[in-house]
Order: sequence, then structure tokens, then C-alpha cells
Amino acid sequence: MPRRILFVCLGNICRSPAAEGVMRVRLPGYDYDSAGTSGWHVGEPPYPPMRRAAAARGYPVDDLRARQFSPGDFDAFDLIVTMDDDNLATVEAMRPQGSDTRVLRCVDFLKDTVTDHVPDPYYTGDFETVLDMLEEAAAGLELAMKQAETG
Ligand code: 4NP
Repeated sequence: MPRRILFVCLGNICRSPAAEGVMRVRLPGYDYDSAGTSGWHVGEPPYPPMRRAAAARGYPVDDLRARQFSPGDFDAFDLIVTMDDDNLATVEAMRPQGSDTRVLRCVDFLKDTVTDHVPDPYYTGDFETVLDMLEEAAAGLELAMKQAETG
């Protein structure tokens, strides 16, 4: 049963910490963490515009600090959720032999929005769309977790 869930993006200062912040409010009862495939921002809090946008919706993320994804995360988590296909490919390339930890895309949990990735607000400047998608994904993740628990 998935209890430990890791969100992964590129920098770990926008999308994945926002995902962690949204999920711990909207879907409590699981252990959440986030990581970046890059080490560019290790030790930094989330990007200030992302922090402001998330806090404005009730998801404070000031406590989070960026870290880089590592192969040990396959053991440490039951489910890994990536923000785009580049993240997915980078993570899968680090999968230890024999690990069957599931790696899914955040967009796999969207019910209404049709897209193949969570757009990177570090480049688009659109933090609200990210939060919209993460809130929608929270509902999908809740459903998926319930289904996993009941078989
Ligand atoms: P994130 O966004 O992957 O959602 O955290 C990014 C943050 C920083 C950079 C790229 C993406 N960067 O190039 O520094």
C-alpha cells in the first residue's frame, strides 16, 4: 500500500515542492517529500513566486528545502510522481536493478485536464496553472490511493 510518496521535478523549487504542499493539505495521511533531478538549487527554499502563489491558496511551503533525487529514493518511497517526461526518463534511468517502485506522471492523476506534462512555471511564469493542476491531481491521487487500498 503506497504510504510514502515522492514528487519529482527539475529544480525542486517550483512544481514538486508545490505538489508536496498541496497534497499534505488536501490528502493528509501519507508521507510526502519532493526532489529535483538536478542539483542546481539544493538547500534552497521554493522559488519566492511559487511560495507566494501556494501560500495564497493555503499551501505554505516555506519550510521545504530542495534536494536532488537519488537512486535510494526508489527504496525510500512507495510511489514516485514526476512532473514531466524528462523527469520521468531521468528517474527511470536511475532505477536500481530489481526495484519495482512505481513511477507515474502527475498528469496521470488528472481527470479533466488533458496534457502530457505540468508546465514549468520557472519558464512560463504561470504559477496558478500549476496549482490548478496539482489540486486536480490531488483528487485523482486520492481516488487512486483508495483503489489501491481496497484492491
Ligand atoms: P521546477 O522548475 O523544476 O518546477 O522546480 C525549475 C526551477 C529552476 C530551474 C528549472 C526549472 N532552473 O533552471 O534553475
